Amino acid sequence: MKDKIKNAKSLEELQALYTETFGKNGTMTAKLKTMATLSNEERAVVNAENTELRGLFKDKQTELENAALNAKLATEYVDVTLDCEPKNRGTLHPVTQTLKDLSAVLESMGFELWTGPEIEDDWHNFTALNTPEYHPARDMQDTFFLENGNVMRTQTSSIQIRAMEKVGVPIKMFAIGSTYRKEMDATHLPSFHQIEGLYVDKDVTMSDLIATLRTLLSKFFERDIEIRIRPSYFPFTEPSVEFDMKWGDKWLEMGGAGMVHPNVLRNCNVNPDEYQGFAFGFGWDRMAMLKYGLDDIRKFYDGDVRWLKNTGF
Ligand code: PHE
Repeated sequence: MKDKIKNAKSLEELQALYTETFGKNGTMTAKLKTMATLSNEERAVVNAENTELRGLFKDKQTELENAALNAKLATEYVDVTLDCEPKNRGTLHPVTQTLKDLSAVLESMGFELWTGPEIEDDWHNFTALNTPEYHPARDMQDTFFLENGNVMRTQTSSIQIRAMEKVGVPIKMFAIGSTYRKEMDATHLPSFHQIEGLYVDKDVTMSDLIATLRTLLSKFFERDIEIRIRPSYFPFTEPSVEFDMKWGDKWLEMGGAGMVHPNVLRNCNVNPDEYQGFAFGFGWDRMAMLKYGLDDIRKFYDGDVRWLKNTGF
């Protein structure tokens, strides 16, 4: 048996020999069963044989396994220096990248991300935002109405309401999401993305708003951005402003902002004599266009990989 083990050519052969020796009807198994009837000397002999055979099996197994591994390595090696076909790696879409960058900036400034539904009820999209039915400001936004009276949210401002209703104040939140209006040309789509910020506390002022907008834009574009505000009107802020950003030698309209209207706070059970805050909102598809030098917003959503590649993404 010892020679047979030493000369085994394969793991299968070795396994067969092992069964022959240590299996249920194996030769060694049979000897071990008789141990109780043997003298001490005889026992020592059987024990020694047992140990020796097990050792032989073990060594042979290791030897055969190594041989198998070496044979495999010899035939299946990979030549890492060979040229290979380039694999295309996926990248984030410019809009997704913009979203991530903006979120990172706002989070670094202490704003917490909130989300809300894209199909909104009248209360959150309009009424709670101090825009009751028949309010002329409803015409500012060409709304998609659903048959049940709900709307495709026209602005992420609805999420301000949801957040304040849920956790009250003080609050420092932002929201990012799709919004919908009936419009479409090279710079407008019926579905676009807005970013919204809200900060309500006991001593939040208009200068906090201006500083926040400037910091947000400067961090996003990674350069010092000049902004200016112009008086404007939104039902849910008072005073209301629109803010522009200096881009080259032009002023670009970015979005709306203002101090949260007392009625909006009241609608969320917040006492406006105690708390005040600012809110801002703007479309960020445009920001992606500016940051990455893209011209036609519609191309963002064509899903044309050739175009995406040309953008450097
Ligand atoms: N919701 C406004 C819009 O869509 C923007 C805005 C948000 C204005 C917050 C003021 C405060 O035009």
